[in-house]
Amino acid sequence: MKTFTTVAALQEAVAAAKRENKTIGLVPTMGALHEGHLSLIHKAKSMCDVVVVSVFVNPIQFNNKEDLEKYPRTVEADLEKLESANTDMVLLPSVEEMYPKDFVAREWHFGQIEEVMEGPQRPGHFAGVATVVCRLFEIVMPQKAFFGEKDFQQIAIIKEMLRQVQYPIEIVPCPIVRAENGLAKSSRNMRLSAEALSFAPNIYATLKQAVEMSEHKPVAEVKQWVVDTLSNMDSGKADMKFEPEYFEIVDDTTLQPVENWNGGVVGCITVWLTGVRLIDMIRFR
Ligand code: PAF
Repeated sequence: MKTFTTVAALQEAVAAAKRENKTIGLVPTMGALHEGHLSLIHKAKSMCDVVVVSVFVNPIQFNNKEDLEKYPRTVEADLEKLESANTDMVLLPSVEEMYPKDFVAREWHFGQIEEVMEGPQRPGHFAGVATVVCRLFEIVMPQKAFFGEKDFQQIAIIKEMLRQVQYPIEIVPCPIVRAENGLAKSSRNMRLSAEALSFAPNIYATLKQAVEMSEHKPVAEVKQWVVDTLSNMDSGKADMKFEPEYFEIVDDTTLQPVENWNGGVVGCITVWLTGVRLIDMIRFR
């Protein structure tokens, strides 16, 4: 595994691999790696000759300063995990390396897919994601790039960004990796106490029950039931409760809320638990 801190050195190594006709897969990450990230790397290894992983906590996608400060940074452990996953190249850039003084970010407009769910809750977030992912695409120009489906809306935004810039890169969405108790793997789980960690799997358990309910109940009723069930769930501790930020049942392509179960339908949820923002999703149809 080769680790690079400068864009130029990584580009030289990627160019050498491309001269040997090797296919390149890119896995963008913000570090604090867990099994979810490792599954993206394994998928990339199975589809590409050379796998490049970027580890960069992208400041411009955080609309909340405290969230950026608290974001876990575990570089040493990340490098060990990347090595054992047989990663070929790692980019570990500084902020100045990613955004040099002369860097001009595009102005992104994604229309209705950014007007729902995470969009209104996190102003500027998707522009920040699109900017960093576009920059990584321009640096590496991989054939394929791998993203986790937990951030379902992020994948839709990245696909739309690619449609706008017209780079010949295939986006490979990868399924959520869950703990045995159902909790979606996330870097933010590191910030949960042991008690919160054992309460959090109720999010997925509730989503699974919602899928069963969807066989005989209308969308509006299922949606309300999920929000009410989580909001009223008793953890046995006064200071530990779920605070759903949103739960939307949406079309899997347009991300617009649906009124019936026709076509591809997913449920996307964001829930606060003890000051930690947890995201999950489930497919209904
Ligand atoms: O999903 C993430 O970890 C980040 O949003 C990404 C895609 C690495 C961009 O910073």
